[in-house]
Amino acid sequence: MRAPLDPPEILLLGPGPSNPHPEVSAAMAAPLVSHLDPFFITVMEETMTDLRALFRTMNHHTVPISSTGTGGLETIMFNLVEPGDEVVVGVIGHFGQRLAELAHAAGAVVRPVEAQWGEVLDPGRIATELERRPAKLVALVHAETSTGAAQPLSDIGRIVRDSGALLMVDAVTSLGGMDLDVDGWNIDAAGSCTQKCLGAPPGLGPITVGPRAIEALHHRKTPVASWYFDLNRLFQYWGDEDGTRTRAFHHTAPVANIYGLREALRLIHAEGLEDRFRRHRDAHELFVRRLDDIGLSLFTPESHRLPMLNVVTIPDGVEDAAVRADMRDRGIEISGGFGPLAGKVWRIGLMGANANPTVVNRLVTNLAEVLGR
Ligand SMILES: Cc1ncc(COP(=O)(O)O)c(C=O)c1O
Repeated sequence: MRAPLDPPEILLLGPGPSNPHPEVSAAMAAPLVSHLDPFFITVMEETMTDLRALFRTMNHHTVPISSTGTGGLETIMFNLVEPGDEVVVGVIGHFGQRLAELAHAAGAVVRPVEAQWGEVLDPGRIATELERRPAKLVALVHAETSTGAAQPLSDIGRIVRDSGALLMVDAVTSLGGMDLDVDGWNIDAAGSCTQKCLGAPPGLGPITVGPRAIEALHHRKTPVASWYFDLNRLFQYWGDEDGTRTRAFHHTAPVANIYGLREALRLIHAEGLEDRFRRHRDAHELFVRRLDDIGLSLFTPESHRLPMLNVVTIPDGVEDAAVRADMRDRGIEISGGFGPLAGKVWRIGLMGANANPTVVNRLVTNLAEVLGR
């Protein structure tokens, strides 16, 4: 007979998932109700309200999509883009490339604007591209997890808004760990995940979609090329802004995951956004100082480093996979690099509950021992 499941306790310091907050895990084991139960409708409303506060938006259309982060981004892309639409995509790493692929899958004419891995895009590059030819949508990654770079968005938001295009942002890694001001920065749609800085397990893709984007959706000439991810259908379940349609079954929502997200959001707002962002910055700065003590440094230029995801240069002569395996044996997960950075960097996340000095000290002590430094 197969033994009951007994997973190892790993300190999850890769680019996600991070370890969920214990109160989130407890909430997920709470008694199940059905996806249309009055209690659950209240949980849905609370989740939408708290997500709006986290995204810093008044957008009604702010919900967790039943999918991981990619499904949320796909929802945005497939609702806003019609075949033949022009989409400008900022590509500064692996996840920018993925946005370009999503736009392509939605039938867009994709116009990538690229920067070297590790760098970010100057807003002037986007302005020039939009002056060259207008676009329906501009898509960018806020926190590029493959390079550790934070793409500044507020100037780009103004440029895109002035051009008449929509701005979509991949906030999968940034949300909950650094400021993201959806309304203040003129962002028309953003998508994130639950398993990084929010402190819940993977399984949901929170998104927010603003009024200009919903207007574009209502004026489509072709139907959305997805049944499940069609926002118009989905909001009959999550509830329309004007409440004209009766709430109705769309799919069986993952109730336990939404309980978990509801609790993660409660904890985030109890901590306060500013304090939470500061905690992520402080953990990052302590990590950089402690790395320096053992002769290691970050790959990403200091001018635009992410707080929650540290991309560490692997010293010459050190074998990437062997170090990661030794760390795993010590109960700590760190991750390797992607594409051109494979074998050259480690990607180390200090996200959600793991952004604290105790975790940083345990991490660096073990890394130093494994490296013999
Ligand atoms: C910036 C970014 N975008 C998108 C994704 C994909 O998210 P998910 O794995 O939740 O589908 C990730 C995952 O690591 C990411 O870091």
